[in-house]
Amino acid sequence: MEGQSLVLFFIFISVFSGDVEGGLGEGEGEGEKRMFVFGDSYADTGNNRIALAAAWKYPYGITFPGKPAGRFSDGRVSTDFIANYLGMKTPIAYRWRKQLAGRMKHGMNFAFGGTGVFDTPAPYPNMTTQIDFLQQLIYDSVYTQRDMKTSLAFVSVSGNDYAYYIARNGSTAGFPAFISSVVRQVGVNLRRMHGLGVGKIAVGSLPPLGCLPANTAPSSFRQCNKAQNALVDLHNRLLLQAVTDLNNQTGSTSFFILDIHGAFQTVFNRTRPHQAGSPKFENPLQPCCMGVSAAFSCASVDENGVKKYTLCSNPKSTFFWDTLHPTQEGWRAAFSTPPLQNSLRQLFQY
Ligand SMILES: *[C@@H]1O[C@H](CO)[C@@H](O)[C@H](O)[C@H]1NC(C)=O
Ligand SMILES: *[C@@H]1O[C@H](CO)[C@@H](O)[C@H](O)[C@H]1NC(C)=O
Ligand SMILES: *[C@@H]1O[C@H](CO)[C@@H](O)[C@H](O)[C@H]1NC(C)=O
Ligand SMILES: *[C@@H]1O[C@H](CO)[C@@H](O)[C@H](O)[C@H]1NC(C)=O
Repeated sequence: MEGQSLVLFFIFISVFSGDVEGGLGEGEGEGEKRMFVFGDSYADTGNNRIALAAAWKYPYGITFPGKPAGRFSDGRVSTDFIANYLGMKTPIAYRWRKQLAGRMKHGMNFAFGGTGVFDTPAPYPNMTTQIDFLQQLIYDSVYTQRDMKTSLAFVSVSGNDYAYYIARNGSTAGFPAFISSVVRQVGVNLRRMHGLGVGKIAVGSLPPLGCLPANTAPSSFRQCNKAQNALVDLHNRLLLQAVTDLNNQTGSTSFFILDIHGAFQTVFNRTRPHQAGSPKFENPLQPCCMGVSAAFSCASVDENGVKKYTLCSNPKSTFFWDTLHPTQEGWRAAFSTPPLQNSLRQLFQY
């Protein structure tokens, strides 16, 4: 299970991102809708700002907004695609709430790269604290009860809790029990959002972590790690049960799953070289940007500024940007698959 500890470990050490720009979203609608975002680097658009975060260094952000600005990608991330689908602007990152107060009506992004539902070494708020931030804004009357009713929460839990567990314990012993406790905590968090009056609450399924480049590197990006993906499947089964139970217990249809796992899997299946159809990504498991050795990551340079990473010639040609995160084109492809299109249709009805 060495590969797994490595991957999961990578997830939390490569702490992430944020964006500075005002007009980040593509959507134009003003409407009543607003989105609140919680979670990690798959959703963060600018909260995680430590001087060393790779997301604030070249070549992150080269596609959008054109310079490093905190997103852990070459460009847009999941939050941007969801906002765009809903016809709204990307909600501002929490850290910009004072500077961009005029845009708070679109909601707010509380996601911090590197975080989990439990504490991780990332010096950033876990999801409980992220929800505290929203609660405080409600107490401060920044958002009204009516605002909350027409709001959507997007919750991204992409594996940092598991990374930290492995790093601490050094093995996957006891993993199933830990997965249960992570999903239980996710359930507690979702229920709390509901208690704050959020109308719709969408939690992403866990992506197939065994297919992240960090985990497929040993097979030259050809083989997903089946043992890791089996654990991911357990998480997703428990998550589906938790969401079903929450709807049942609250007598509502407020809670649902955004099928990020199904979307990634669909892209990987489609683009396998032996599959029919026109593959968009030559090898979907191979990242665009990666360290020249395992000791280095995308964006790392030596003391003389010499690059310790390689960059593909066109980030549009790969699904993954770095060893953990999709490119903008990867996210675009994922959001175009039936699993995520179906999830988005439910979102649109809120
Ligand atoms: C989240 O962080 C807060 C503040 O550090 C801490 O008190 C709390 O126990 C953490 N919650 C979980 C579920 O780990
Ligand atoms: C994993 O590590 C945590 C923290 O050290 C510990 O509480 C837990 O019992 C460990 N679990 C297993 C199965 O070793
Ligand atoms: C909700 O759960 C209860 C108890 O398990 C069960 O009896 C009931 O049929 C469930 N309702 C729905 C709508 O699933
Ligand atoms: C992808 O392919 C695998 C193996 O053929 C299959 O089990 C799985 O259902 C497929 N998933 C999707 C989402 O197409």
